[in-house]
Amino acid sequence: MKVSVGFPLGSDGPLGRAAAVAGSHPSYRLEGVNGSTRVAVELDLPEDWRLLDDFSGLLRGEGQAEYAADGAAISGEELFEGLRCFLRKQRSGTPAREWCTPRKLADKQLFPCRQIHVYDNEHLTDNSWYAFGTMGEDGAFEVDKDAITDRVLSDLGPCVRCPILDLDTTAEIVARLPEKIDPAKEIGWGYREDGPLTGWRVVKARDGGEEKASPQEEREGLIERLARSVRNGGAGVAVGGAVGSRNVPATRYEDVGGMRETITLVREAVELPITHPEIFRKLNIRPHKGILFYGPPGTGKTLLARAVAHESGAHFIAVSGPEILNKYWGQSEARLRSIFNEARAKAPAIILFDEIDSFASSRDMMSESFEATLVSQLLSLMDGLNDLGRVCVIATTNRPGAIDSALRRPGRFDHEIEIGLPDAEARLHILEIHTREMPTSPDLDLEHIAQHTGSYSGADLEALCREAALVCMRRTINLRDLEKRVAPHQLSALSVTTYDFRTAMRRVGPSIRR
Ligand SMILES: Nc1ncnc2c1ncn2[C@@H]1O[C@H](COP(=O)(O)OP(=O)(O)OP(=O)(O)O)[C@@H](O)[C@H]1O
Ligand SMILES: [Mg+2]
Repeated sequence: MKVSVGFPLGSDGPLGRAAAVAGSHPSYRLEGVNGSTRVAVELDLPEDWRLLDDFSGLLRGEGQAEYAADGAAISGEELFEGLRCFLRKQRSGTPAREWCTPRKLADKQLFPCRQIHVYDNEHLTDNSWYAFGTMGEDGAFEVDKDAITDRVLSDLGPCVRCPILDLDTTAEIVARLPEKIDPAKEIGWGYREDGPLTGWRVVKARDGGEEKASPQEEREGLIERLARSVRNGGAGVAVGGAVGSRNVPATRYEDVGGMRETITLVREAVELPITHPEIFRKLNIRPHKGILFYGPPGTGKTLLARAVAHESGAHFIAVSGPEILNKYWGQSEARLRSIFNEARAKAPAIILFDEIDSFASSRDMMSESFEATLVSQLLSLMDGLNDLGRVCVIATTNRPGAIDSALRRPGRFDHEIEIGLPDAEARLHILEIHTREMPTSPDLDLEHIAQHTGSYSGADLEALCREAALVCMRRTINLRDLEKRVAPHQLSALSVTTYDFRTAMRRVGPSIRR
């Protein structure tokens, strides 16, 4: 980590001593002219920690001192708050490893930092990683990795900036945890029953014999590697072996209506590099790293991104722009990095930045330097992607003009695909998709509906189908009878007609009126 420190040149007092300390560093320079001369140094952490430690004492409360961490401006309080644990540990003289991964936690500690209180312990506690999640109806426990990530980031607090914390490894560890635990099928797991099934938890099975040697060995291997990574100052842990289960959406191309040509474009840009990398190698061209879908709301941009992930078997990570800004306020950069690491660990992968304009709007227009930093971070993460099509980033927006032009340069979001409002033929296709599983009357004339729903978006058409079904229900079933069970003959009388659609159109109009 590079930390730049700048402060006014003084001849005595704390500023004078700080200048003397800075003078001992090769990067020492003076800036500005007489009267307003400033001292500037560029420190490398962890190596130059002593100087920074001295500054932390000498420059405390110095309003004119300025700091930057890896190029991003940061306040002195924030910087030193984040380095508190690191500096304390350096001063103590104990090897970092002993501090970050103390021996007494050796077989429980999952993350290479003891600030993070999420463990791989034998007995379920609120801090066990397998305490995060919910029990599904099918008796399989779904691990909530978002919740684990939230917890990790909140435990770290400002220490996400620790120069020896290996955030990449931390993200990788979360990515490697299983997505699901099914005690009915998996050895080594049991249930803790409490009330209805959805309230059950999972625990590690302790009835001896079952605990195989191999997972234990694997875990020791991981801890060993983490310890090594911490010792090496966070050089990262090589990705190897099987990676935990993947999140591949269930949406298929056939669920996306009226986009035949767009789908062809998207397949070429996203799916082909994943499924047939040899073509790109042979032609010696680099696939697009980033693709921008733009168009009015509800036209199926998110839907299409999910479908292409499904069809190419890619691990899918959806990130919503507003969420990155609000929910992870202050930790957004760490969150962004962990997202890219997860994608790399589980490649092929597609990262979807939904509503990217919310944080990647033109930097000039931004007052918040924080958002600008976020864009820079995204840019550098995208520049760092060398996986040749194995990791593809898709961004969606309704306002392509509002996006920082640096994001649209070659090697970034350099391929733009417009997803417009559907025409009559496309509308028919979308109506067919959303009535596929509905009981419909043989004389339902979807073509007629498609003709009369100009400027409806895909989402509007979906809402229209739902409303038509409700109209049909109100027409067929007497709501006053609902106390009683609906008789089978009433159910079989449900059949959606053109009339129901026409009634529904009075309630559900196009969301964009021109
Ligand atoms: N082309 C389409 N074919 C089938 N269904 C569609 C289509 N477009 C939209 N829909 C329906 O509308 C819903 C919302 O669409 P989606 O979220 O993909 O829109 P969007 O373009 O991402 O909108 P926004 O810009 O508001 O994020 C989808 O889940 C789907 O049910
Ligand atoms: Mg969307």
